[in-house]
Amino acid sequence: VSEPDLAGRHVVVSAGGTREPLDPVRFLGNRSSGKQGYALARTAAARGARVTLVSANAALPDPAGVDVIAVGTAVELREAVRRVAADADAVVMAAAVADFRPAVYAGGKIKKKDGEEPAPLALVRNPDILAELAAHRARPGQVVVGFAAETDDVLANGRAKLARKGCDLLVVNEVGERKTFGSEQNEAVVLAADGGETPVPYGPKEALAETVWDLVAERLG
Ligand code: C5P
Repeated sequence: VSEPDLAGRHVVVSAGGTREPLDPVRFLGNRSSGKQGYALARTAAARGARVTLVSANAALPDPAGVDVIAVGTAVELREAVRRVAADADAVVMAAAVADFRPAVYAGGKIKKKDGEEPAPLALVRNPDILAELAAHRARPGQVVVGFAAETDDVLANGRAKLARKGCDLLVVNEVGERKTFGSEQNEAVVLAADGGETPVPYGPKEALAETVWDLVAERLG
């Protein structure tokens, strides 16, 4: 049974995975389904928050009572999140944002040429949206939450990432070929900048979402 402990709050959640186009038919993408972000949006709405969900390429139905903004690329996601975060009490970056994008976008479909090796793919860095949000909070006391998928040294890498990104909370989960992506279940540890460490046992993505909102609500007071 959820308490309306987020009533009167505006929260922003990003979900899904960005797609970085190479040409009109191809992109660099990732395996994020968007399910964790959508679970965060649904649970925040159930706890009384006004929720804006910035959704990158998730093939999921819009959650009831949530404002959904669809985006494609990291740069689009950054613009949308920045705009809606201006009056947000909390921002949760659950989206898998591509670290790099193709340096050039070919206006026409890239063709293979007989007898020629493929041209190397030049990439440029995308902005780190989470780090930017944390460094330039749109309002004092705004709670900024990140996600980190790690394959090894999960806690040590998570702590280092929390410090590097400057966010308040970092949800760290271990990923591998059969773990997390597209699944209904998740297992994680939520690391806090104040030293807190909250393990969330393997279970539905809703349960992890509720723990995130518990920790956010605590920080909002
Ligand atoms: O550095 P890494 O990609 O592991 O960090 C993951 C966290 O940072 C996620 O919360 C993701 O949404 C966010 N991120 C971002 N901008 C990027 C890369 C990741 O906001 N360019």
